[in-house]
Amino acid sequence: MAKITKANSVGEWLDQRLNTTKFNKVMMTEYWIPKDINFLWAMGVLLATTFTILIISGIFLLMYYKPDVNLAFDSVNYTIMQEVAYGWLFRHMHGVAASVVFLIIYIHMFTGIYYGSYKQGREMIWISGMLLFVTFSAEGFSGYMLPWGQMSYWAAMVITNLFGGVPFIGDALVVWIRGDFNVADATLTRFFMLHVFLLPIVIMLLIGFHFYTLRIPHVNNQTSEDIDYDAEAEKYLSGNKKESKVIPFWPIFISKDLAVLGIFLIFYFYLVFFHYNFAMDPVNFDPANNMSTPAHIYPEWYFLWSYEVLRGFFFDVGPLKAFDIGLAAFGFANVIFLLLPWLDRDTKILPAHKRPAFFVWFWILMADLIVLTIWGKLPPTGANAWVGFFAATLFILLFIFLPVVTKIDAKKRGE
Ligand code: HEM
Repeated sequence: MAKITKANSVGEWLDQRLNTTKFNKVMMTEYWIPKDINFLWAMGVLLATTFTILIISGIFLLMYYKPDVNLAFDSVNYTIMQEVAYGWLFRHMHGVAASVVFLIIYIHMFTGIYYGSYKQGREMIWISGMLLFVTFSAEGFSGYMLPWGQMSYWAAMVITNLFGGVPFIGDALVVWIRGDFNVADATLTRFFMLHVFLLPIVIMLLIGFHFYTLRIPHVNNQTSEDIDYDAEAEKYLSGNKKESKVIPFWPIFISKDLAVLGIFLIFYFYLVFFHYNFAMDPVNFDPANNMSTPAHIYPEWYFLWSYEVLRGFFFDVGPLKAFDIGLAAFGFANVIFLLLPWLDRDTKILPAHKRPAFFVWFWILMADLIVLTIWGKLPPTGANAWVGFFAATLFILLFIFLPVVTKIDAKKRGE
């Protein structure tokens, strides 16, 4: 057992029992971060903060929400919004955070793609991040069902129906997921369980794992330089702070993060108080009605790009049905980002502006995702259907050709 002596302070008492000094060094004061990074590297901390806001506001909503098809709509729209003191505030904080969290996830993801932060040693960071993306998507989808409005009901109908496309077991799978032949009370209660219990726990475990995956390879930097952390840390600790390429997480780096976080929170609360409507679909203020399908069903903005890939293939090709082609394309869109570390065949880690072919690829992908997102909300008729088709096809081609594109850059450098 450790040597226990009379402690002169609470800190010393804890240190003897928990080795807090060492813990503090490893996690904070000697956790090294590259100097050469910009505000885009604060997105991780913004995500952790937004997730905390979601948990806290969600706990308050949970005190009054009723997971029952006869009570859910009123418990949200009357009890929480009109009767409970500040219920509206917690609902708006929750709704806006749920939307904004996806905006930051996308910025975080595409920063990683731009700087090649998924490559050579950082694959596990990327994989854990993608698992977070998938669980966050399931969390967003299950939460959208809870107010039991028209969009909640019909979005659940469309998404659960997709599982019907799985060969052989499709129909049985749909019934199993719904817990009923239709989207009904059993569906609502199980999605409620997923939303408030299982998925948040998985997300918390994954965030812990994501942080752990950063320890060995460390975060990337703006020039994607392979830094010798031991040597640079020694420089810093010996007082040569100016020359060292690294800074400690605490208190130096965190102060930069907190500055970005402060600006973000101003923006976030501005949306909560003045523009919360963007996160609330007007159709969802009508109670769920299985006898009346809304004229136009679409998901929240952050799923529109993949929804449009699903809808883009609107005609049968020979024996292949449009629904099956769309479903296969949708499956492709949802797993392909996970494979990025292996599709990128460039042997070096470099930012996109130093990889000319990849740079063009990256910006075409951005433009395509924006087109898919915009057209995902429009009715899929006439010219819209064709725009969806071409944008969805381009998305797939971009990933099929990524290995070639990334090899061109390596070849041009003479590798
Ligand atoms: C709630 C979700 C998430 C949290 C809390 C989170 C947190 C963090 C933090 C704190 C960092 C270090 C600093 C930074 O670059 O911000 C980081 C890095 C990273 N994250 Fe996430 N992240 C999340 C989701 C994701 C997702 C969805 C992806 C995409 C697949 C991802 C991929 C990465 C990558 C590649 C890095 C390394 C960046 C670099 O080396 O430059 N993360 N994350």
